[in-house]
Amino acid sequence: MSDIIISQLSKTFGSNRVLSDVNLHIKQGEFVAVLGPSGCGKTTLLRTIAGFEPLDSGSITIGGRVVSSPDQFVAPEHRDLGIVFQNYALWPHMNVSDNVGYSLKIKKVATDERNRRVNEALKTVEMLHFAHRRPADLSGGQRQRVALARCLAQGNNIVLLDEPLANLDVNLRSSMEEEFSQFHRSTGASLFYITHDQAEAMALADRIAVMEKGVIKQFSTPDMLYHEPQNEMVANFIGDGFTLNVGYIKRFDDMHAIVKLEGHDVKVRCAPHESDRIAGKIALHPENVTLGSDKDGVLRVKISRTVFRGSHIRVEAEPVRFPGQQISFHIPSTQKLIIGQTVNIQITNAWLIPTT
Ligand SMILES: Nc1ncnc2c1ncn2[C@@H]1O[C@H](COP(=O)(O)OP(=O)(O)O)[C@@H](O)[C@H]1O
Ligand SMILES: [Mg+2]
Repeated sequence: MSDIIISQLSKTFGSNRVLSDVNLHIKQGEFVAVLGPSGCGKTTLLRTIAGFEPLDSGSITIGGRVVSSPDQFVAPEHRDLGIVFQNYALWPHMNVSDNVGYSLKIKKVATDERNRRVNEALKTVEMLHFAHRRPADLSGGQRQRVALARCLAQGNNIVLLDEPLANLDVNLRSSMEEEFSQFHRSTGASLFYITHDQAEAMALADRIAVMEKGVIKQFSTPDMLYHEPQNEMVANFIGDGFTLNVGYIKRFDDMHAIVKLEGHDVKVRCAPHESDRIAGKIALHPENVTLGSDKDGVLRVKISRTVFRGSHIRVEAEPVRFPGQQISFHIPSTQKLIIGQTVNIQITNAWLIPTT
């Protein structure tokens, strides 16, 4: 088993603490994405796993072997990891097949065996017909496939990828996404995939580690991140989410609580261990909000912006009595709301953010 276990990892550059107490357990064969804004420490985390950066405290264990800790360090070339960079990192003077086979040559794998593995890898990524081209004569997507073939030929069962699609145009991205899924399914390798693109992470990963300022805010399946965010940052970050302050939280049953919003009772989903409390926050997405009539509804809001999206109109609004909190919802594109207008809204199926 080649699980990657990162525990209590911290890293500073000078006085800049870039990673704080990172804990992640990545199971063999899992596709894990690390998602966070630029500068939050994603590349540094990948580089510590790869062995390009030492760590200050904590440890990294791969397949039961400690590869990094303050007093142990296994060199990158002895970690048996495949790495795919944003800029492909191919040798410009070597053709495709020499690039793919280079590390096997270094490891003194016999020529026949090497050729067999290189050809097989190039076939898998459908690049065999370009085996004799130089990287300069390939498109970005094709270069990225060569980088994948290199991992395949090496037989790495862990592959680290640092924003591999960031340099590709939008059309190519979706076909390369499929390429990565295919690679994952056919090899059974663990993929550690760094991205700042939420849609990419949600589409590809089994689990996503959401990162902010060097801290892992939540490590869950895309579904759980979306429906059961564990903190305000994740609630606001994932899927056009937003939060509202609520009061007088009372448990209702195993999975629900009743909260007060402007004096109205609202039933929300909650974690099984929730207990009654005075105040908290609920997490919502646009689909949790519908328009009420003038007489009903739990919250009166003032429309601040409307955006036509073809199939629907996206509406932004602020609670009249609690301005500053932003909410958004969708109405059919046949309906009309005017900026400055006030309406009542209903809330269904929101999620009570647990206390930490
Ligand atoms: N070698 C380095 N020396 C000093 N600071 C660095 C170095 N590498 C990264 N940093 C800093 O660490 C922080 C995180 O960078 P990085 O891991 O590249 O973020 P991300 O990949 O999420 O954009 C940034 O503030 C960056 O300036
Ligand atoms: Mg980076």
